[in-house]
Amino acid sequence: MTYKEQLDMDRIPQHIAIIMDGNGRWAKEKGKRRGEGHIAGATALHNTMMHASKLGVKYVTVYAFSTENWTRPDEEVNGLMALLFEKLDLDIFMDNDIRFCVIGDTDRLPENVRERMNYCISKSAGNQRGTLTVALSYSSKWELTQSAKRIAAMVQEGKMTIDEITDKTIDETVATSFMPDPDLLIRTGGETRLSNYLLWQCAYTELYFCDTYWPDFDEEELCKAILTYQQRERRFGKTSEQIAEENNNI
Ligand code: FPP
Repeated sequence: MTYKEQLDMDRIPQHIAIIMDGNGRWAKEKGKRRGEGHIAGATALHNTMMHASKLGVKYVTVYAFSTENWTRPDEEVNGLMALLFEKLDLDIFMDNDIRFCVIGDTDRLPENVRERMNYCISKSAGNQRGTLTVALSYSSKWELTQSAKRIAAMVQEGKMTIDEITDKTIDETVATSFMPDPDLLIRTGGETRLSNYLLWQCAYTELYFCDTYWPDFDEEELCKAILTYQQRERRFGKTSEQIAEENNNI
């Protein structure tokens, strides 16, 4: 039986976050340039988004460019920006009813990328089938610093008191305030770390690591990750017995 055939379609994760790692090594092993790995990675992203939305996943959030990635060689950074510009195609979002969103320090992006990005964001805002969020020039430390500054400003302006700050205040001031926390985080490429990605949001997210390089990540790999997620028990700090009782009461 394929992984897809084994899935429980009533328990598809609502939100999948992905660290798309391994483009460079995929290219190197094939004797290609790193940039060709990113091009193949963009195709894998397109395919994964389509498969995920067909399965009923409502939110897919991908790490495309971290704050730290600005330190890569100019040639690679410029190539990635050119690829982003080329791949931001509104028709894809409109034809598939996908809302496009971006999180990150977008002021650092080149003007042409920002313009096309904002165009796709505003035109696709009403799409309902799913949401693709791309983390661009993003890191959790950047995001949480921004959140802290916003909360401090609200306190300074007398809009709230320090005692009124709760975890909900942080939920509402981080870049992902418009979406639920990820149920499942997938990292391809064999590394087992979060690399400054959605650290606040992944407090109770199931983590899935696989060796497959991102350009080779296909529908079966996605279904395997979802199946692994379905086989885990999410307890959110409670006991197994409490979870079983809650499930009996549904
Ligand atoms: C990590 O692999 C991947 C990236 C830094 C870039 C990911 C970008 C894409 C998949 C293209 C996205 C396109 C759009 C339209 C959003 P790596 O280069 O770190 O690989 P390595 O660890 O093997 O060197």
